[in-house]
Amino acid sequence: MSEKIRVMLSESEVDKRIHEIGQQISRDYAGGQVHLVCVLKGGAFFMCELAKRITIPVSLDFMSVSSYGGATASSGIVRIVKDLDESLDGKEVIVVEDIVDSGRTLNYLLTLLKERKPASLKLCTLLDKPDRRVVDVLVDYTGFQIPDEFVVGYGLDYDQKYRNLPYIGVVEL
Ligand code: IMP
Ligand code: MG
Repeated sequence: MSEKIRVMLSESEVDKRIHEIGQQISRDYAGGQVHLVCVLKGGAFFMCELAKRITIPVSLDFMSVSSYGGATASSGIVRIVKDLDESLDGKEVIVVEDIVDSGRTLNYLLTLLKERKPASLKLCTLLDKPDRRVVDVLVDYTGFQIPDEFVVGYGLDYDQKYRNLPYIGVVEL
């Protein structure tokens, strides 16, 4: 079965917004440095583009948590698949995510990371679907708020497909 993809946010719209967020972060942490924590796999494309636009020193780490199976609905089960390589102690940490949907993943993750004593902990997400929120999550940097539609591209997948699309699209089954 093949799906059709309708463009929701074009490549240039996404690029422009990531550039703005990069500038914002560079201003907010001016004179310091930031430690970006990428939530794999979805956050990887966004984090790379964002990191390139931040003009203060940046360090990177990666972790992988899972709250979804192959389906498009949240199971509510969150597990660490790959943990960070480095300590967060004393660092200005920004968690970089592809999307905040129910909020379950981020709620769990932020609670866990806070215990590792970062100097500060913020959340940056490319996309936010506020209509779907089940658990409250404070988002510090948002690329776009989008309606409740299942999206792919820029790291987001449908059954592991379409992560490499350079724009955000809606899957039409
Ligand atoms: P949450 O725990 O419900 O907030 O879900 C977070 C994770 O679900 C995201 O990091 C994505 O991996 C996945 N997800 C949620 N909505 C979408 C979507 O529209 N497309 C692709 N993945 C999604
Ligand atoms: Mg994700």
